[in-house]
Amino acid sequence: MRTEVQSIIDPRMSQRGLKFAPPWNYANFISGNIKPVFNTSAGVLFEGDCLKVLPLIKSETIDLVFADPPFNLGKEYGNKVNDKLTEKEYIVFGKKWISECSRTLKDGGSFFIYNLPKWNIIFGAYLLELGFTFRHWIAINIKASLPIQGRLYPSHYSLLYFSKGKPNTFRKIRTPIEKCRHCGGEIKDYGGHRNAMNPLGVNLTDVWNDIPPVRHWKFKSKKRKANQLSTKLLSRVVYMSTNRGDVVLDPFGGSGTTFDVCENERRHWIGIDLESCDVIIERLESGNLHYHPNNDYVE
Ligand SMILES: C[S@@+](CC[C@H](N)C(=O)[O-])C[C@H]1O[C@@H](n2cnc3c(N)ncnc32)[C@H](O)[C@@H]1O
Repeated sequence: MRTEVQSIIDPRMSQRGLKFAPPWNYANFISGNIKPVFNTSAGVLFEGDCLKVLPLIKSETIDLVFADPPFNLGKEYGNKVNDKLTEKEYIVFGKKWISECSRTLKDGGSFFIYNLPKWNIIFGAYLLELGFTFRHWIAINIKASLPIQGRLYPSHYSLLYFSKGKPNTFRKIRTPIEKCRHCGGEIKDYGGHRNAMNPLGVNLTDVWNDIPPVRHWKFKSKKRKANQLSTKLLSRVVYMSTNRGDVVLDPFGGSGTTFDVCENERRHWIGIDLESCDVIIERLESGNLHYHPNNDYVE
């Protein structure tokens, strides 16, 4: 059933520099007495375990869930995050947050999970069990990873894309015709049909070769060592599956890439992180992290 809870977009919302715009009133989306650590005109951030915060989000109110959890690779996030669970514990944890997120999604809402293929194969099967509709397994090409002894050279991360029934929003995206970085010539001949191609670009495929890693300091939060996604990935997901004024939920905020993109693209957002929310607040307040250029054409 489609919920009638609709957000009313404030025309001043999330334009950088307009710090005096009133904070977003998120009362239609959150129940209980939890206090956020940050509230902008577009979104709200909660510090805590997502398993404790997610149950406070009202059912069927969210348009898009984007989740980039720790991959259980033993990385150092902070004192509170244990990124070295047993496989069983990691899967149990995954199924708990996925089930809570799925409850919060509206009918027709979209659910994206970024993870290693090893985990996403399990989480994708779980989303099917929950009744979600499979849309795509998107392969995000990894520019440089290390070979693993006795295995194929891992060359992609998985981005699962499911929807709760038929998607409410799916905007067609075209990407620029690929050119060689060195000579500027076009890389593909499109089977001899180049002249018949749409000048606005080619249809976005489910293999994304154009997502840069976040390496350079001008894109990267200085206080935070843990993985940070490119704004290009998030803006593409947000363009594809939401409209202005929609509400995006990210239960693993990290350095706040999702929220930064939502601020710029005028979507509302609800964010959670177990710790280091100061990093997210600093990023959103200063607005000084650079964006990776995104030349997608959105129809
Ligand atoms: C891979 S990072 C997300 C990076 C983010 N997508 C970005 O681009 O900056 C995962 C985040 O999940 C947070 N986290 C881990 N366990 C959590 C939990 N139980 N509840 C909420 N956040 C958690 C970690 O603190 C970390 O910041």
